[in-house]
Amino acid sequence: MAKSISQLIKDEAKRQQNTLSLIASENIAPKEIRETTGSVLMNKYSEGYPGKRYYGGNEIIDQIEVMAQAAAKKLFGAEHANVQPYSGSPANIAVYTALLQFGDTVMGMSLPHGGHLTHGHKVNFSGKAYKFIQYGVDPETGLLNYDEIETQAKIFKPKLIVCGATAYPREIDFGRFGKIAKKVGAYLLADISHIAGLVAGGVHPQPFPHADVVTTTTHKTLRGPRGAVILCKNSLAEAIDKAVFPGLQGGPHDNITAAKAICLQIAAKPEFKRYAAQVVANAKALATSLQKLGFTLVTGGTDNHMLLVDLTSKNITGMKAERALEKVGIITNKNMIPGDLRSPFDPSGMRLGTSILTSRGMGEREMQEVAMMIAKVVDKPTSSAVLSAVKKEVAVLTKKFPIK
Ligand SMILES: Cc1ncc(COP(=O)(O)O)c(C=O)c1O
Repeated sequence: MAKSISQLIKDEAKRQQNTLSLIASENIAPKEIRETTGSVLMNKYSEGYPGKRYYGGNEIIDQIEVMAQAAAKKLFGAEHANVQPYSGSPANIAVYTALLQFGDTVMGMSLPHGGHLTHGHKVNFSGKAYKFIQYGVDPETGLLNYDEIETQAKIFKPKLIVCGATAYPREIDFGRFGKIAKKVGAYLLADISHIAGLVAGGVHPQPFPHADVVTTTTHKTLRGPRGAVILCKNSLAEAIDKAVFPGLQGGPHDNITAAKAICLQIAAKPEFKRYAAQVVANAKALATSLQKLGFTLVTGGTDNHMLLVDLTSKNITGMKAERALEKVGIITNKNMIPGDLRSPFDPSGMRLGTSILTSRGMGEREMQEVAMMIAKVVDKPTSSAVLSAVKKEVAVLTKKFPIK
């Protein structure tokens, strides 16, 4: 007989507790945030914005949404915040809807080089509706080549430039992107979905005042509920709000809006600064340990929460490494590396992130242990003796750092 959903939720909680997750886009949201998403707020409909709703009974929801807007603006130094986007992809599409006409020229980072699907990939709505020119990283260094991006921008004269990434382990120079955008008369959208927690925690520079619009998910390094926010200058506020509702979405998910407010308030506290600094310290420690164990890292290291590992020197593909690691309870994701000749289903690399392990309380010492576990598995992925020994090490470490 199939298991009940409630049993499957218990199973998933156990899986999360008993594994070491290095998925760079995930985190462990605090209990308060998880409970808020499951609260009675989900019963309410509130199409519109605070004070201008299409349904009655919204006096409490209005207070919650205003609180979330205020916290978002304060955290990222923004003039205006829209806290209704259901997630990161619809947030980006809403920005395009607000600023562009179908067919307009836009520049975004290509997916195989670390950009997101919504930054103009051909299978995505963004790549179909707009004429996206894709920029990438230098295949030798793995770094963004700002001179090259500027040259492209001068040739193609985009109406909008999108910066930000899904798989880029280095700081993004928003100032330089802002200058390029200004030179060609383009808007600049900074999609800080991955690094928002680091920006909030003061360990990555802020995108404002260089960007005209900022989008971010709230569930990655920011450690909040599944969702997104859009931040912008006052001059674009009306266009952004109209694009989100009624342009793209219906009723906002008020339970999530409340959880966003809590997450944004937590992210302004000193403890969050310590967490953000530790996320980066852990990523650097993991990087150094892996390099000592013979791994090659794209760009030679990291400035943020993630590492891109080039597995070619280890003679294993991304898919095989991901599968072998999952067998011992280490959860990673295979990833393309710049200039990858292999398919995205079995690429040459893997992406590792330290947000979850940091949220569980682990520090640099544990990162050394994790690096050693990864090396043992990747070096001998078919040895059952190695796999069972590392599985035991994973069990000891996960038990020491329970998910709260
Ligand atoms: C840079 C970036 N933007 C947008 C998104 C989309 O977010 P969502 O999965 O919530 O739609 C992601 C998700 O990984 C991302 O990495």
